[in-house]
Amino acid sequence: MRKESSIHGQWSSKLVFILAATGSAVGLGNIWRFPYIAGEHGGGAFVLVYLLCILLIGLPIMMAEILIGRRGRQSPINTMTALAREEGLSRGWGLMGWMGVVAGFLILSYYSVIAGWALSYVFRAGTGSFTGLDAQGVQAMFEGLVADPERLLAWHTVFMCMTLIVVARGVRSGLEQAVKFLMPLLLLMLVLLVGYAMAEGHFMEGLRFMFTPDFSKLTGNAVLVAMGQAFFTLSLGMGAIMIYGSYLSSRASIARTSATVVGADTLVAILAGLAIFPIVFAAGLEPSQGPGLIFVSLPLAFAQMPGGVLFGTVFFVLLVVAAWTSSISLMEPAVTYLVENRGMTRVSAATLVAVLSWLLGVGTVLSFNHWSGYTLFDMTFFGAVDYLTSNILLPLGGLLIALFVGWRMTERSVASELDVQRPALFRTWYYLLRFVAPIGILLVFLRAINVI
Ligand code: PHE
Ligand code: NA
Repeated sequence: MRKESSIHGQWSSKLVFILAATGSAVGLGNIWRFPYIAGEHGGGAFVLVYLLCILLIGLPIMMAEILIGRRGRQSPINTMTALAREEGLSRGWGLMGWMGVVAGFLILSYYSVIAGWALSYVFRAGTGSFTGLDAQGVQAMFEGLVADPERLLAWHTVFMCMTLIVVARGVRSGLEQAVKFLMPLLLLMLVLLVGYAMAEGHFMEGLRFMFTPDFSKLTGNAVLVAMGQAFFTLSLGMGAIMIYGSYLSSRASIARTSATVVGADTLVAILAGLAIFPIVFAAGLEPSQGPGLIFVSLPLAFAQMPGGVLFGTVFFVLLVVAAWTSSISLMEPAVTYLVENRGMTRVSAATLVAVLSWLLGVGTVLSFNHWSGYTLFDMTFFGAVDYLTSNILLPLGGLLIALFVGWRMTERSVASELDVQRPALFRTWYYLLRFVAPIGILLVFLRAINVI
C-alpha cells in the first residue's frame, strides 16, 4: 500500500513545498560560501563547472531525491530501508540514510557558527559600526570577531537555540511565512546591492572574474570543490530534500517544483557574486581571502551608501533568516529518525541533536583562533569538517541516490512516481540520472585524487 501522507504531516499545497525546499536551499551556501570558494579557486572556470554540475548532476538528483522521499514518506533511513525492501533489494541501502544523518549533523555544527557571525553583524550594522570604515577597518573588525572565541561561542549558542526552537515545535509552523515574505525581500536587497556594485564598484572586473574561464587555474581539487558546492547549495545528498519531499502531495509535479527551487537557488548565488566581487576589486581586497569575504566586502558598501545603516541591518537580518530556514532542514533527518525509531518526542530528539551539534561546533569556533595552527592535510578543524561533508559525503549520497533510482528501482515504479507528461523529458532526465550524474561524480572523485 502506497502511503498517501507522512506521519509528520503533509504540505498544505505544492507552493508550500517549493517555499520550504527553497528555504532549505537558499542560505549561507549562496551568499557566504559560493563567493568565497569561487574567489579561492580563481572565478570563471570554477563558476562554469559549478553551473554545469547544478544542471547536469544537481537537478536530476534533486528530482530523484524528492521522488524517493515522496514514495517512502518516512525518515531517510526508514524510507531507504522500506523502498529497498519493496524493490527486493538489500537492507544495506538504509546505510545511505545514516550517512545523511551524519552529514547533516556535521554541517549543522559549523553552519551555526557562521550564522552566528551573521547574527553579530546584524548588531554591528544596526549600531552604525561600519560608518566611516575603510578596507583596513572592516578587515580589522572581522579579524577581531573571529579572534574572540567567547563571542563566537555566544553567537553560535544563540543560533543553535533558534534552530532548536523551530525544529522542536515541528518545522512547518512559521517556515511558510518566513520564506514567502522574507526570501523575496532578500532577493530585492541583493538586486539593490548589485546596483550599488555597478555604480560604485569595479563591475566589469567583477564580471570578468566570474565569467571568463581560465582553465589553467582549474585543478582536480577545484573541480571537486565546485561539484561539492552544487550539492551543498541545493541541500542534496543527505536527506533534507528527501524529507521535504515526503510531505509533498502525490499530485504535485516533481520536475517543475525541482526546476523552480534550483533556479531560485542559482539566481541568489549569482547575484551574491555580482554584488560582492566588484566591491572586492574596488577596495583592493583579495578575492581569495577565504571565509571572511562577505564580512569584509559588504560592510564596505554599507559604510559608503546612503541609508547604509538601515540597509545593512536589514540585509544581515535576512541573511540570518535564510540561514535559519536552512539549518532547520539540516537537523530534520536526525530528528525524524530519533522520533520514528527511538520513540523520542520531537522536543527531546531536537534537543539531543542540537546539544551534540553545538559541542562539535566548538571545534569550528576554536579553529579560527586557538586551534588555527592545528591542521590536517593543510585544513583547520572547520576546513576538514567542511571538506568531508561537502566534497565527499554529499556527492557520495547523491551518487547512491542516482544509482538507487536509476539502476535499482524498476523503471515502472520510477515512471509512475514521476508522472512526466512528455516522454522526451522523462528520457532526458533518466539518461542524466543513470549515466551522466554517476559517471560525472566518479570522474570528479578520481580526478581529485589524481588517478586520472
Ligand atoms: N543549501 C544550504 C545553503 O546553501 C545548506 C544545506 C546543505 C542545507 C545541506 C541542508 C542540507 O546554505
Ligand atoms: Na543554497
